[in-house]
Amino acid sequence: MSQEKSADLSSKHVHAATTATSTQSTTARARYEQSHPAKSRRGSHSGSSIWPYIDTRTMDESQAGGESTYSYNSTADLSAYFREINGRKFSSLDSAYMLRADETEFWRLDKQHTAFYMGLGELYPCPDLVEHVMAPREGETIEMVDLGCGTGTWALSMARRFPHVQVLGIDLAPVPLSPDLVTPNLRFEIDNIMQGLTHHAGRFDLVHMRCVGGGLPDYAQAITYAAQCLKPGGLLIIFDYDMLVCAKDMVSTRKMATPNQPDGSWVQRFFYEFRWAYAANGIPMFDELLDKGLWEHPLLDGCGAAGLHIPLGPWATSSEPAEAQRLQFSGILLRQNIKNALSSCQTVMKRNGIPQAILDQWVQKCEEELDTLKLHNWAYLRMLWGQRRRENASNPLSGSASASTKNPETKPEPSDLPLSTWEPHRQVRVYHTMEECQAARKKRLDTIGEVVQPLVLA
Ligand SMILES: C[S@@+](CC[C@H](N)C(=O)[O-])C[C@H]1O[C@@H](n2cnc3c(N)ncnc32)[C@H](O)[C@@H]1O
Repeated sequence: MSQEKSADLSSKHVHAATTATSTQSTTARARYEQSHPAKSRRGSHSGSSIWPYIDTRTMDESQAGGESTYSYNSTADLSAYFREINGRKFSSLDSAYMLRADETEFWRLDKQHTAFYMGLGELYPCPDLVEHVMAPREGETIEMVDLGCGTGTWALSMARRFPHVQVLGIDLAPVPLSPDLVTPNLRFEIDNIMQGLTHHAGRFDLVHMRCVGGGLPDYAQAITYAAQCLKPGGLLIIFDYDMLVCAKDMVSTRKMATPNQPDGSWVQRFFYEFRWAYAANGIPMFDELLDKGLWEHPLLDGCGAAGLHIPLGPWATSSEPAEAQRLQFSGILLRQNIKNALSSCQTVMKRNGIPQAILDQWVQKCEEELDTLKLHNWAYLRMLWGQRRRENASNPLSGSASASTKNPETKPEPSDLPLSTWEPHRQVRVYHTMEECQAARKKRLDTIGEVVQPLVLA
């Protein structure tokens, strides 16, 4: 497909309205809780489900956006896919994604990738399910995709680990991988998840989407698009940040620095303000959505969820040498990554009118907190997984206007898909049900403390 077509596709992008302004008159705490996307989104979809109503029209190949935007190898001239703002490079395909696409950002993402890999001790959650779907099968091509693949490093690691699997990386921006590194079973496409990915419907054994929430005006819709790319029985993995930092007990939320909470965390405050700036730009907060897991998604079954804690800095210790090393290394890397992110995140905050002098002050306080380790903070990463239900008469993906597509309340029968029996290390909390996930969320929200009025609303 030509580059002209891709430019045309990007112009169809629709920004979701922000929920920020409707909440100004409520208390700060209530305002925070009301800012979550699923509440505002509920009314905009059919039925009571948080998931977008499954419309068989999205499976129609003839629909706009039904083809890949641009396939390439890394020697092609891809300059058209970047735009420059104040000397920094951004993807030109979709203005919703506001973080940079330049060397500094790629370097940060690779550091973050290593921190996640070390922190989790694996490339992915639920390794038993991943190995199950990636196992070679006679006469079948095993395929997987990494949506929002960034630098392509995770996709490359998977291509090396599973040489019999065809790996695709999709992103708004070209990946910076050197062509020498790209293995024969790995390729990349430039595309926008929010355009629907209908040309990949029913194709993949594994769909992975990590830390892409910052480019998704409608995360629930993106999850449905991702699920539609799966073969029946294929596995979807979502992995994303919670912008709330956890306290040392790995249960409660670290209180943020405010005039009444001078001992609170500036890192907590900074990322809280950052999320509001993002919301004001049309990217709603997604923590409430992710805390519901994928259990109720009509296309998915065999679901699970987990929370991964990685220390922000090398403060966590253990009497077990391997664990101590994992905590130290992942903590050092994630602290560096967060310090680099402070600078990337400022672009969005400045765009929303937060004065540079205030940003400089916040960054200085965050750096001090991270360098002195006076607060023992954990970053919290959410991991969700689910498997696409097998085809049956009531499956909306069968392509016909079946019972469940006419009535969004009707869910297909549970399938025989396996549940993960993964037993990870103790910085990972596995949730087997939505209720367990919700109970953990409640504890976090109950301990949030005083929440200030975000500056973008002031
Ligand atoms: C924070 S980076 C994470 C990269 C990678 N997944 C990782 O974990 O290292 C987010 C990536 O998602 C991409 N992205 C954001 N919104 C997207 C969209 N709507 N469609 C495709 N890619 C998107 C961005 O270009 C960026 O490379």
